[in-house]
Amino acid sequence: MRQLAPVLRQDGVNSNLMSLIQTLLTACKEISFHVSQGDLAGMLGATADENIQGEQQKKLDVISNQLIKDVLLESGVVKAIASEEEDTTVAGDENGDYIVSFDPLDGSSNTDINSLIGTIFSVMKAPKDIAANDPALFLQKGRAQVAAGYVLYGPSTMLALTTGNGVRFFTLDKTHGEFLETHSNVQVPKDTKEFAINMSNQRHWQPAMQHYIADCIKGETGPLAKNYNMRWIAAMVGDVHRVLCRGGIFTYPQDTKNPNKPYKLRLLYEAMPMAMLVEQAGGLASTGYENILDIQPSEIHQRVAVILGSKNEVETCLSYHQKA
Ligand code: F6P
Ligand code: MN
Repeated sequence: MRQLAPVLRQDGVNSNLMSLIQTLLTACKEISFHVSQGDLAGMLGATADENIQGEQQKKLDVISNQLIKDVLLESGVVKAIASEEEDTTVAGDENGDYIVSFDPLDGSSNTDINSLIGTIFSVMKAPKDIAANDPALFLQKGRAQVAAGYVLYGPSTMLALTTGNGVRFFTLDKTHGEFLETHSNVQVPKDTKEFAINMSNQRHWQPAMQHYIADCIKGETGPLAKNYNMRWIAAMVGDVHRVLCRGGIFTYPQDTKNPNKPYKLRLLYEAMPMAMLVEQAGGLASTGYENILDIQPSEIHQRVAVILGSKNEVETCLSYHQKA
């Protein structure tokens, strides 16, 4: 099994981007260690604070954010970072080549139940003409990503990574502390019979999603003519990992539960990097009306509707949106 560096070199990744990815992974290895220690490390549970998005911060959210932020800002190749846990962007090296957006610990409500969580990241080139302390650095479409991925802290710690040359999985060999390539050329099957959605929000969805899921549930005798199964991990990183492994459709659609918050997932550090991974693996990622990678962001903590996964199934779901 190959280590990360030779694989990245083969993919034509330059030395600065390679060093950025390896630096980020040093923090992820440390997070993996803390997560695996669970209650022994006294790091489970909530802090007294909320983040800018009004979400209760877990101790592990704060620790993970600090670890990643510190290593990236000291790397010398990062001009600025945007994190789910930071109110605004944080400046790094004025001459840094790259900007990084990240969700330090996705699915953090799973921390206290010893269930799947992960770090999601997105890397873009830093525009030269915008200052390191200007959030405008980050207002680029997902198509501009030069690397995207996640580290999943599960029974094993895995990295899913794309640098625009397909998707590869690496597994952390905890005996040596190295990520080793365990799957190259990851492909999302085009068809699926598995959907992932938080069904408890059903009555709050738009008509298009109501109709699509209703037809999924009708099964073999309904218009979609197949029996579906449902999964919901409540951590996007876990649900997207399953989709990359064996296909499926994952969605967090628009809803009317809270009129001030029609969407849940964040564009920069959840939707965009997952969309790049899914597209690089032959799948599709949309809001229902627009490809996620074509959205022009207007602010760093912007939220969007997400429908992603197996290409044919996502297209079926999109056809309900077109009809609506
Ligand atoms: O980061 C937001 C998130 O935790 C995702 O990881 C996950 O898919 C979703 O929210 C879960 O939402 P809910 O609590 O509504 O099931
Ligand atoms: Mn998240």
